[in-house]
Amino acid sequence: MKTSFPKEKLKILLLENIHPIAKKKLEEAGYSDVEILKTALPESELIAALQTTKIVGIRSKTKITQNVIAQCKHNLLAVGCFCIGTNQVQLKEAAKAGVAVFNSPYSNTRSVAELVLAECVMLLRRIPEKNAAAHKGDWLKTTEGSYELRGKTLGIVGYGHIGSQVSVLAEAFGMKVLYYDVVPKLPLGNAVNAESLEKLLSQSDIVTLHVPEENSTKNMVDAKFISHMKKNAIFLNLSRGTVVDIDALAKALTNKHLAGAAVDVYPLEPKGKGEKFSSTLQGLNNVILTPHIGGSTNEAQYNIGIDVATKIINYLDKGNTVGSHSIPALNLPMQDGTHRILHIHNNIPGVMSAINNAISSTNTNILGQYLKTNESIGYAVIDIAQIDSSKTLEQMKKIEGTIRTRILF
Ligand code: NAI
Repeated sequence: MKTSFPKEKLKILLLENIHPIAKKKLEEAGYSDVEILKTALPESELIAALQTTKIVGIRSKTKITQNVIAQCKHNLLAVGCFCIGTNQVQLKEAAKAGVAVFNSPYSNTRSVAELVLAECVMLLRRIPEKNAAAHKGDWLKTTEGSYELRGKTLGIVGYGHIGSQVSVLAEAFGMKVLYYDVVPKLPLGNAVNAESLEKLLSQSDIVTLHVPEENSTKNMVDAKFISHMKKNAIFLNLSRGTVVDIDALAKALTNKHLAGAAVDVYPLEPKGKGEKFSSTLQGLNNVILTPHIGGSTNEAQYNIGIDVATKIINYLDKGNTVGSHSIPALNLPMQDGTHRILHIHNNIPGVMSAINNAISSTNTNILGQYLKTNESIGYAVIDIAQIDSSKTLEQMKKIEGTIRTRILF
């Protein structure tokens, strides 16, 4: 894709050891000025670096604060979060400044799903305690409490990206799959919609949770939820920590209502490797505790690298904002023989007619036009006839409410 700005001069900075595939993808698309740093930068150094950087790639340690945006918005076009969430970016400020923010919410789906199945096997064979005993020199050779997955019923709560992937893998193990979701979902394979949460809980040998963190899911797994589960059932949570009342879960494991659990996420998690982790689940029998690594694999990092780099390239090459958390999502199809102008503005009445007046004042024909707004921001992508579009751009910059406008090609 040819753009009107020289791609090789557009500076991109990738922080926090982002997978090298991202640099490769950007370079293949012509964006050859890509610098990679292994660490995050403290705010002052970040602000200094972003004075000349158009695109920054971050993971969870770099904070794109209100101050960073205020001091870099004259130059910064987009932030690529090469991770699942976008909590580390002040999204409202980014929107107000016309900075596009992309992430990769689903690139680690498979990694989580595989760990779920692996942990189901481990827990049904009571491996955590046998492993701990063997390390201490004890020989716990017994079949008591050990079962195959085959023929058991897996109850999946939340049948989204991860839940449905777990469903497919579980069936490959010969499990019966029940699922429950608040949104109507078609079953994959032979999975069966349980229709109600209570039905799912009362029929499942293993219950695995794959719901989002929302007000409606906070502490959804409490004593009542657990009381509906079968005696000796297994429970897994690799979704979000706030979803489970950990004390209620610990109690059900201690009094042997549940036979085991795997937990990857906690209401309070250490901020980094140096901080101590503590939980009421520590020391319990047949409980696997992992440090929020459900989605942490090399493959997921690779997929995230491709996904976010592709979103950035599509934004730079075509003005495509699908997947952005700050700019309304638009994807205008490409057409030959046009110039493309992007206009990000405050969502106030009259901007589109001002844009059209600006274009017609230079006698330019509009060949395609898309507008998408949210409560505060409007984003217009306009394809015009190939005449000298710099005059049109000058007119558009003067429109009241303009945040950012530029010619793409
Ligand atoms: P998703 O958005 O694709 O699916 C979530 C599903 O839960 C949706 O179908 C939704 O309708 C459903 N849901 C919402 N509220 C519900 C309720 N009260 N009862 C039943 N279903 C409900 O999300 P995805 O990608 O499958 O992720 C699921 C969870 O896993 C999220 O919380 C995500 O943050 C977490 N996650 C954890 C990782 C880890 O490292 N442990 C890695 C990736 C995601």
